[in-house]
Amino acid sequence: MRVVVVGGTGNISTGVVKALLAFGHDVTLFNRGVTDLHAAGLGAEPVPKGVRVLLGDRHDRAAFEATMRRERFDAAVDMICFTAEDAESDVRAFRGTQHLVHISSVATLGGEPAELPMRAGSPRRPGDDYARGKAAADEVLAAAHARGDLPVTVFMPAQTWGYQRGIPRQLGFASHWVDRVRKGLPILVAHDAQLVWAHCHADDAGLGIAAAVGRARCLGQTYILTRWEIATWRDYHEQIASAFGRPVRFVDAPADLLIRAWPEGTGLLARESRWNRIYDLEPIRRDIPEFQPRITLADAAPALIARLDRAGLIPDAASDTTEDRIIAAIDRLATELAPGEPLAAAP
Ligand SMILES: NC(=O)c1ccc[n+]([C@@H]2O[C@H](COP(=O)([O-])OP(=O)(O)OC[C@H]3O[C@@H](n4cnc5c(N)ncnc54)[C@H](OP(=O)(O)O)[C@@H]3O)[C@@H](O)[C@H]2O)c1
Repeated sequence: MRVVVVGGTGNISTGVVKALLAFGHDVTLFNRGVTDLHAAGLGAEPVPKGVRVLLGDRHDRAAFEATMRRERFDAAVDMICFTAEDAESDVRAFRGTQHLVHISSVATLGGEPAELPMRAGSPRRPGDDYARGKAAADEVLAAAHARGDLPVTVFMPAQTWGYQRGIPRQLGFASHWVDRVRKGLPILVAHDAQLVWAHCHADDAGLGIAAAVGRARCLGQTYILTRWEIATWRDYHEQIASAFGRPVRFVDAPADLLIRAWPEGTGLLARESRWNRIYDLEPIRRDIPEFQPRITLADAAPALIARLDRAGLIPDAASDTTEDRIIAAIDRLATELAPGEPLAAAP
């Protein structure tokens, strides 16, 4: 098929483009020509030969829509539809297209799960502007599909990593924790890091998305997209730390305390990672058997960390002393209540 990818050069869309080509599609990208993860040394290959790039900004609605209508692609994968307005623009741009694949997010399901496992059809409880925008886009596209205006498939990825600019942790998105682990410093976690988290490499996720393009049984469906394994945050941190060949020293603290003491460091904890995230993956297994996640964090961590180090994207542990101050305060409290070894004592 002649497939356009809106985006195509970022974290997840790098994997989507590779897989679309492997499936034999004729691929065009639409983006601003700003993102260059290859030049930034972040692991992505240059845009492959034979892939056409149309330069433009999707927010320039008239030009974007006119370009898409003129090109009359068979199918479109919109990687960067974030709002109802983006989705309405897609409906105008892709009327007559056989298939639109839209990338939403599990963030639309909110923080505390309404049910476990969380399903694509679980109640939507978006908790921030990002999730509210995605949920509104999903609604616009579901209505367009129901009206028969545009056949749509929706993917809701959980955390997807591979070509990104940092390595999140249970608490938040800043990467200086990686340098703490490298230097043998303890890291703070909540719920003893025993909560379940889901993640997937961008190449695995990209293959799942690309396999759905043009597939009749995927039309009108919504798929949660992540690995099958039930893995804890402890696993997550330890797999990344395995690149350094040293154990992670965890210091446990109540989630409420961490969020209050360190609001800027605990965005993910406040939003999602203080609850178990277990997802229903039966629909994707049923309809997209090609999706067989293979790449583990432990396998990919050494190269990922080396790339981020070269790009200067893992800040020095000393760049934020908040974690040390919170750990010292917890130690003081523990010593006051029950004298003994400091919680974060080096082994
Ligand atoms: N990564 C995750 O953990 C995760 C989890 C759940 C959902 N998602 C969703 O997955 C989707 C993909 O996210 P991603 O971070 O991997 O990004 P991506 O789609 O791989 O990369 C962004 C792409 O969009 C292009 N772009 C950005 N702004 C543009 C604009 N105004 N007009 C045209 N092109 C534009 C960028 O190129 P230029 O900058 O050159 O324009 C780049 O090619 C997003 O919808 C995100 O919400 C991601």
